Amino acid sequence: MATPPLLKLALAYIFGLDTSLALQNHPLIIVPGLTGSGIEVEEHGASMPHLFCRKKADDWMKVWVSPVQVLPEEIDCLIARLTLTYDPMSDTYANLPDLELRALGWANGTSEREKTWDVLYEYQFRSMLKTLHAAKGYELGKDVFIAPYDWRLAGDGHEQRRNGVGGYYPHLQALIEQAVQANGQPAVVLSHSLGCPTILYFFHKYVSDQWKAQYIHGWVALSSPWMGGTTLVQSYLGGWTLGLPTWLVPHDYVRRVQVNASSGVWMSPHPKAFGDNPIVITPSRNYTAADVPELVRTIGKSTWGNQTGALFDKLQGPYGELQSAPVNIQLHNWYSTGIKTGESFFFDTDLFDGFDKADQKTVWGDGDGLVNLVSLKQVEEVWPKTDSVSTKVFPNCTHFGILSDQRVISALAEYLGAPKAMNSTALFV
Ligand SMILES: *[C@@H]1O[C@H](CO)[C@@H](O)[C@H](O)[C@H]1NC(C)=O
Ligand SMILES: *[C@@H]1O[C@H](CO)[C@@H](O)[C@H](O)[C@H]1NC(C)=O
Ligand SMILES: *[C@@H]1O[C@H](CO)[C@@H](O)[C@H](O)[C@H]1NC(C)=O
Ligand SMILES: *[C@@H]1O[C@H](CO)[C@@H](O)[C@H](O)[C@H]1NC(C)=O
Ligand SMILES: *[C@@H]1O[C@H](CO)[C@@H](O)[C@H](O)[C@H]1NC(C)=O
Ligand SMILES: *[C@@H]1O[C@H](CO)[C@@H](O)[C@H](O)[C@H]1NC(C)=O
Repeated sequence: MATPPLLKLALAYIFGLDTSLALQNHPLIIVPGLTGSGIEVEEHGASMPHLFCRKKADDWMKVWVSPVQVLPEEIDCLIARLTLTYDPMSDTYANLPDLELRALGWANGTSEREKTWDVLYEYQFRSMLKTLHAAKGYELGKDVFIAPYDWRLAGDGHEQRRNGVGGYYPHLQALIEQAVQANGQPAVVLSHSLGCPTILYFFHKYVSDQWKAQYIHGWVALSSPWMGGTTLVQSYLGGWTLGLPTWLVPHDYVRRVQVNASSGVWMSPHPKAFGDNPIVITPSRNYTAADVPELVRTIGKSTWGNQTGALFDKLQGPYGELQSAPVNIQLHNWYSTGIKTGESFFFDTDLFDGFDKADQKTVWGDGDGLVNLVSLKQVEEVWPKTDSVSTKVFPNCTHFGILSDQRVISALAEYLGAPKAMNSTALFV
């Protein structure tokens, strides 16, 4: 019987035997950002807005991102398939009835139907993984894993699968444990954008301090909207499309999904960070971060406003309380600056039920083009001070550009380059 790598390593550590295993890479777990995970659905006669939308199939169908799904005549079908409803009375989320939904390409980014690396992951992580492969021999599915998730959700939805929605955290925990067992080294988690709040919640609320000490070498958080960003308000109002390139997603396609999403609450500017700054300026009144729930209830009055308002009531306060470094985690907070990022948005009319337009004038500030600087730098400026966090700033790359920026990738390779000496006592806990 083969000796499990962890045991081998422990024996090597104790007896000074075969030390080759001690040079194994830290397994790298990649957690994508908002809209950065593929989504597939299975339909069992779900009610669709048009006759031509496929209603029934025995197999999973990729809906995000799929070139067919984003064709203009298919957009209503796509929006229906990504429907997320929340019932405040029972505190439960639901998909469209008779539809199952899951993230696509668990662990190796490969969809079962296509048998190849999904285009969405390739777009985001190709340069990074190419360099890590050349420099350190990292291989997808062996010591690099993609951990996609349902990006409509905030942390509460990930804790367990309920009503066919969520359940990411137990899946993620198991993936990390398996990766550590197989590679004999604690894991590095690399998250981007919404992936960072998603991991912050996982570390604070889902796993124990002992688990973190045992399984996690470190956490690299890229471009995190720790306290949200003003661009999400722009998205509620109708003028922004989540920053994906237009060849991947045509303009204004995801707004109808994102307005209902609980992750949108996390991505909205948090009053504790954005204070009294007027974010939305209209002829008769201005709206600050604290006014966003009211704004949402106004513009979505006859449609999604009540649901999203209730999500703000439930999630925004607790999210503010998560803002501190998780115990037993070395956090590397990396972000970019120097890209103009919307701060205030001027409109020439007041807001109304059904409002859907771009602003007439934008006041720009600093950030990564998508997340405001005030949010990116929360960790070092506002979180309680601790030695377990460090910051690196990479000027002049964008929110998505950071994933393929050579300075960032080199820094990552360098960070991954020093495998931790395993503690033989800890291994047998
Ligand atoms: C948004 O929420 C509303 C209210 O629950 C619901 O009627 C609508 O179908 C939802 N739309 C999407 C795309 O999730
Ligand atoms: C990814 O994993 C799946 C499921 O285990 C497997 O069928 C597929 O061959 C793997 N793809 C690659 C590129 O290794
Ligand atoms: C809204 O904010 C703008 C810009 O800061 C300011 O000039 C204006 O007086 C404010 N309007 C109201 C109604 O407070
Ligand atoms: C939203 O809530 C308000 C106040 O409770 C209510 O009057 C209105 O009918 C609700 N709208 C929808 C679409 O459910
Ligand atoms: C960022 O880009 C601007 C404009 O190209 C340039 O003037 C500036 O020197 C750059 N800053 C850094 C730190 O690279
Ligand atoms: C190894 O871990 C044990 C238990 O967690 C701890 O008591 C001990 O100090 C550690 N030893 C080293 C060398 O880090």
